[in-house]
Amino acid sequence: MQLTDAVVLVTGASAGIGHAAAARFAAAGAHVLVHGRDPDRTGDVAREVGGRALIADLNSPADRQRLITEALDPFGRVDVLVNNAGFGYFGRVSTMAVDVIRRLVEVDLLASIELTHALLPGMVERKHGAICFVTSIAGRTGVAGEAVYSATKAGLDAFAESLRGETAGSGVNISVVVPGVVDTGFFETRGSPYTRTRPRPIPAQTVADAVVRAVQRDRAEEWRPRWLRIAPTVRALAPGAFRALAVRFGGQGDTA
Ligand SMILES: NC(=O)c1ccc[n+]([C@@H]2O[C@H](COP(=O)([O-])OP(=O)(O)OC[C@H]3O[C@@H](n4cnc5c(N)ncnc54)[C@H](OP(=O)(O)O)[C@@H]3O)[C@@H](O)[C@H]2O)c1
Repeated sequence: MQLTDAVVLVTGASAGIGHAAAARFAAAGAHVLVHGRDPDRTGDVAREVGGRALIADLNSPADRQRLITEALDPFGRVDVLVNNAGFGYFGRVSTMAVDVIRRLVEVDLLASIELTHALLPGMVERKHGAICFVTSIAGRTGVAGEAVYSATKAGLDAFAESLRGETAGSGVNISVVVPGVVDTGFFETRGSPYTRTRPRPIPAQTVADAVVRAVQRDRAEEWRPRWLRIAPTVRALAPGAFRALAVRFGGQGDTA
């Protein structure tokens, strides 16, 4: 896809991966709609990339609807949707507050499905568009201590795969970017730092480049780091050994 003059909505662009992706899309000549929840941070990023700030708490159904309206307002279309916003939670399911479970599902899964549902028909009608989902290795393998988070990311993967079948030949590309551990504020926000030395966190820019690459080159899937795709392969080929290793080395909640 040509990004010059494309209208690109990046959710969760006020920080981390989304911020870096917004900058990359702007540098490629796109009109960037910078979504965030925090007005100051979102406004700063919008100014930095020459885009438009859209503020919405994705935990709120009303905010999600308003975001859709405001995203379509400036140009009458969205050509590229990057479903990136999300947050994590560390701890056993049995100790989670029900409200946190609901929030994880609303923000990390439902919001992306609703935005896609609203913006995909226009793309199909114009026979032109791309939707990219930022998922996680946690959704491919499951991670102890991140059960609900992992479930939302697995849900996004299954949603994207299904959608790819529904949109085949329509001119709309569906992609997923699967990161491992990324050096952003994600761990601080979830209230539990990443304490391992390996795998080493990769820069947000590396994942942002993968997002732009997936959109520009009509890719179905990008992994960062690339070697990470070996984990679900090992799990599929030797599930018993994989689980034994996960219990031994996995700890609780050390992956994103
Ligand atoms: N960091 C990692 O190791 C890692 C690994 C794999 C996948 N991921 C995924 O990558 C994506 C981006 O994460 P990141 O690492 O860049 O984290 P981050 O730096 O914490 O950024 C998260 C972004 O999501 C937004 N967000 C969070 N809750 C929101 C809500 N309720 N409503 C609206 N926006 C909300 C934040 O907005 P405000 O700051 O304005 O609230 C922020 O822009 C997430 O989906 C995450 O699951 C991250």
